[in-house]
Amino acid sequence: MRAAEIRSRFLQYFARQAHAVRPSSSLVPGDDPTLLFTNAGMVQFKKVFLGQEAPPEGNRRATTSQKCVRAGGKHNDLEQVGHTARHHTFFEMLGNFSFGDYFKRDAIRFAWEFVTVELKIPREHLRVTVYKDDDEARGLWIEETGIAANRIYGLGEKDNFWQMADTGPCGPCSEIFYDHGEAVAGGPPGSPDADGDRYIEIWNLVFMQFDRSADGTLTPLPKPCVDTGMGLERLTAVLQHVHSNYQIDSMQALVMAAAAATGRTDLDNPSLNVIADHIRACSFLIVDGVLPSNEGRGYVLRRIIRRATRHVWKLGALK
Ligand code: ALA
Repeated sequence: MRAAEIRSRFLQYFARQAHAVRPSSSLVPGDDPTLLFTNAGMVQFKKVFLGQEAPPEGNRRATTSQKCVRAGGKHNDLEQVGHTARHHTFFEMLGNFSFGDYFKRDAIRFAWEFVTVELKIPREHLRVTVYKDDDEARGLWIEETGIAANRIYGLGEKDNFWQMADTGPCGPCSEIFYDHGEAVAGGPPGSPDADGDRYIEIWNLVFMQFDRSADGTLTPLPKPCVDTGMGLERLTAVLQHVHSNYQIDSMQALVMAAAAATGRTDLDNPSLNVIADHIRACSFLIVDGVLPSNEGRGYVLRRIIRRATRHVWKLGALK
């Protein structure tokens, strides 16, 4: 299945579950000084979660494929790109959202059904994490999916409490991991070598319950909500049976173009991945109106361009 088909299968699945299919918003968040870039699918719905705006079209369920940039700001993956098989500065996040409608049970049920029934990913490859104190979520995973208790890992705030920025909507989360198998280095979630590429988080289900203020206070949201995010590139790698996001169809087109432009034939050279990733980020940022400059968003764009250029130089293609 090509990345484009996986994207539409996701949106169609959630449309069948009565979600409104909404367009991606711009990478430049409108009217939100707390964020440099749209870094998650929930950003365009922030005011709906906070109860300050009605849900779009009056529907309390929505689904999107959101373009995201994680460079600069709270979620910053820039320095990881080129060193792992799974990090990007620009990526697409598939998400389903409940604005005070369903909560943990249905979020878990939908996610599991989509992954194991719709996409037919074998259950034995899947692991799950929950926030350490969230016994409710742990129990629901067992009830709704029949997953063995020893495949559920309880982790702390760093891994299993999600927030978009230093302030704003947040809550405990639960993640689905895919095990790429023994041939890939890395340990299960929470283990000392969890950072390897063997066990990859593919889907994060956030149980949005609080609004965090600048002094750290957590105020309950008017109604508990759901915000989920699944990286399209990571999911595509699983379904295309490759171990690196850079080997999927949509990224390979860019890697090959970078190789042709730099006159390289060593297609597994990490610098080609960096160039492929960064050129995507730069193109989408520019299309959304960001231009290189000395501050703010423009400065981050400039840093991405510089980093890509350094890798072109490393490949010997800049004289
Ligand atoms: N907003 C959540 C995330 O970005 C789903 O992981």
